[in-house]
Amino acid sequence: MAETITFLGLESSCDDTAAAIVRCTNGQGKVMASVIYGQTALHADFGGIVPEIAARAHAEKLDLCVEEALLAANLTLADLDGIAVTAGPGLIGGVLSGVMCAKGLAAGTGLPLVGVNHLAGHALTPRLTDGLNFPYLMLLVSGGHCQFLIVRGVEDFSRLGGTIDDAPGEAFDKTAKLLGLPQPGGPSVEAEAAKGDPKRFAFPRPLLDRPGCDMSFSGLKTALLRARDALVAEKGGLTVQDRADLCAGFQVAVAAVLAEKSRRAVGLYLAEAPASPALAVAGGVAANQAIRNRLTTLCQTEGLQFVAPPLQLCTDNAAMIAWAGIERFRLGMTDGMDLSARPRWPLDNRAPAMLGSGKKGAKA
Ligand code: KG4
Ligand code: ZN
Repeated sequence: MAETITFLGLESSCDDTAAAIVRCTNGQGKVMASVIYGQTALHADFGGIVPEIAARAHAEKLDLCVEEALLAANLTLADLDGIAVTAGPGLIGGVLSGVMCAKGLAAGTGLPLVGVNHLAGHALTPRLTDGLNFPYLMLLVSGGHCQFLIVRGVEDFSRLGGTIDDAPGEAFDKTAKLLGLPQPGGPSVEAEAAKGDPKRFAFPRPLLDRPGCDMSFSGLKTALLRARDALVAEKGGLTVQDRADLCAGFQVAVAAVLAEKSRRAVGLYLAEAPASPALAVAGGVAANQAIRNRLTTLCQTEGLQFVAPPLQLCTDNAAMIAWAGIERFRLGMTDGMDLSARPRWPLDNRAPAMLGSGKKGAKA
């Protein structure tokens, strides 16, 4: 008999309210529905995410998301085997909204409740999309996260390094802001960079002179600001070409840092002699073609499979939470009504605390 498990997942740790239904048949996952309500417009006037506005919007939208997801999957609550919810890390008001919603649903239906670490959701996604076997190397790069993880099991992660200040997506967003380009900054900086000369500005490659896999991106943004101000002082403004060249210089520096640190992380990972070595990426920055190209080349050189899940499953979503919930449930890991919402929740307790917090608040 086929083992079939169907989970509802809820995500509300940042600025996306999301619900999804995922079904696992004999270990193979399928996303049956994935609904996401973004909050970009709500925070647009404030230059960042306002936690109180985010929490209220999550509380208003969560039940609608659940209804929509069930409708899209053509299922009812009675067809589910459990409810998974992001229980941290993230903005606490949002996480609480999700946890309370999930507890209400679990209490009302009698279904098992599973609390999921948001970062574990990202880290386990390649098993949903590509059926990857443990252990694999994961690079998580978004507006809120930046870390290398060896993923050895559903609850077994080793963090090899991460950013000590800004996340790369945050640096892309700030760069866009400094150059008057639209948000989110990643896609607009990438589009400008395509028209620019990456060699005109020699931006720094922070922390490459130090051993290890830690990264830093805030100095890069400051270097860009200085270059911009120097041009403005000299000529009274920026030409279209100046802007494109600044973007190209910035992007090539980020890609170079990520590629070199990935090379070191791959070295540490391969030293464990994994049976089928793979590097997987997650997070919005993984959409960047220049960064992808560098990572693809690295994987070809080092003999690793390169896995980049579809973008809608790389960025924040609830399907990854439903899937991580199923993975935990299959190992007998469920939670009670005492499940608490956690603002900070590192995946690897052995690694030193992360210093960088990212634009979306403390992550781990
Ligand atoms: O994973 P995500 O949707 O949300 C979190 O930050 O958790 O990632 C969004 C981030 C933004 O900072 C955005 O500017 C960046 O990913 N991003 C990109 C690209 N597309 C999105 N960065 C560089 N190049 C891109 N093409
Ligand atoms: Zn995330």
